[in-house]
Amino acid sequence: MSHEGYHEQGDLLPEPTKDLHRALLSLMEELEAVDWYQQRADATKDEALKAVMLHNRNEEVEHAMMTLEWIRRHDAKFNETARTYLFTEKPITEIEDAADGTEGAGTGKTPAKSSGKVSTQTSANASAQPASLHIGSLRSTP
Ligand SMILES: [Fe+2]
Repeated sequence: MSHEGYHEQGDLLPEPTKDLHRALLSLMEELEAVDWYQQRADATKDEALKAVMLHNRNEEVEHAMMTLEWIRRHDAKFNETARTYLFTEKPITEIEDAADGTEGAGTGKTPAKSSGKVSTQTSANASAQPASLHIGSLRSTP
């Protein structure tokens, strides 16, 4: 079995960390593919090939988002941070300051932590999600 590029001995890593590693690698691969297809679509003079490249690019975006959603569901810090930064119209560089206040940022029901410290809950199994967290709750957001 492939070691998939661990930076530590595989037998020292718990399964949730290995699964998170698999997901992070897959996300990187999908994003790289988006970049490559976009460039190929822009560069070709053949309209039919451009259409195929753009179709494939968009498929890769879908794959990336599916993988990112898996990561969000399995990693508490990704979940918390996504709820702070995604699906808001606030200026991106002002979101952190807004989250430090009492108002909740993003679509999350709880304001982001203001300590700026990285969560100590780094395990991929750190899915301390609120009971209301499900895909349906994302669909209702603007
Ligand atoms: Fe893909």
